[in-house]
Amino acid sequence: MEVKLAKTAGFCFGVRRAVDTVYRELEDKPDKKIYTYGPIIHNGEVIKDMEVKGVTVLKNEEELWAVKDGIVIIRSHGVPKYICDRMEELGIPYVDATCTYVKKIHEIVEKESKKGAHIVVIGNADHPEVEGICGWAGESVTVVSSAEDAEKFSPADHKPICIVSQTTYNYNKFKDLVEIISKKGYDINVLNTICSATKKRQEEAASIAKEVDAMIVIGDKHSSNTQKLFEICNHACDNTYYIQTLDDLDTSQLRSVETVGITAGASTPKNIIEEVQNNVRINF
Ligand code: F3S
Repeated sequence: MEVKLAKTAGFCFGVRRAVDTVYRELEDKPDKKIYTYGPIIHNGEVIKDMEVKGVTVLKNEEELWAVKDGIVIIRSHGVPKYICDRMEELGIPYVDATCTYVKKIHEIVEKESKKGAHIVVIGNADHPEVEGICGWAGESVTVVSSAEDAEKFSPADHKPICIVSQTTYNYNKFKDLVEIISKKGYDINVLNTICSATKKRQEEAASIAKEVDAMIVIGDKHSSNTQKLFEICNHACDNTYYIQTLDDLDTSQLRSVETVGITAGASTPKNIIEEVQNNVRINF
């Protein structure tokens, strides 16, 4: 069995930085309580390890506002502006581990909103990154997730439109939705803000999936970038499997294949990828 492991599989730069920030704060400030606002990454194994080391995950705003002592770490997805403002008002110390690519989108939407644009965010409305981005725009902001949303969309008060994307969005879907809005003839400024790490990961996954008999995508079921990676691979290879850890791999499905491709989402730790890779190599 030949195994092709994607070079881009696993932690991206932003997730690595957020995870490292938590461990660094734990080490540097042993007398302080460390909190993360939401799970720092979509990976149960990593979260469990952090909890064992004393990190508490704050589940909602109520828990956040109640922090009296300690340091809050903002995860790579980022948060709406009012969250940062309120933490400052309440004197809650925090370390902002928002990925620099996401921060850049916050800056764009804030600036363009102030200039009078209606912001369109192409992405999943209930994803924390998208909620965060919307929270840096003014009142005129719309999330577009489907062709239907794009068809229905019209800007408030004939404002010019500024379109950005969730960093982990599927580039082809982004293009299709932009095209629908563009056809309406509005004054549009399109900024493709899909991050380069995501773009490379998706391109590599698609090219491996095309060449192999079966494809394995590893990542948490709640990870939006892994779900998109699965969609892309599944489109190129019918035999694509979405697993969270080695335990989910149904070995009988790989019995008759000769080549297997492996990729993983941005929040999948290296040890899980290696475990799957070694198992597939040895056992088939
Ligand atoms: Fe940042 Fe891209 Fe990762 S936006 S968190 S480098 S997927």
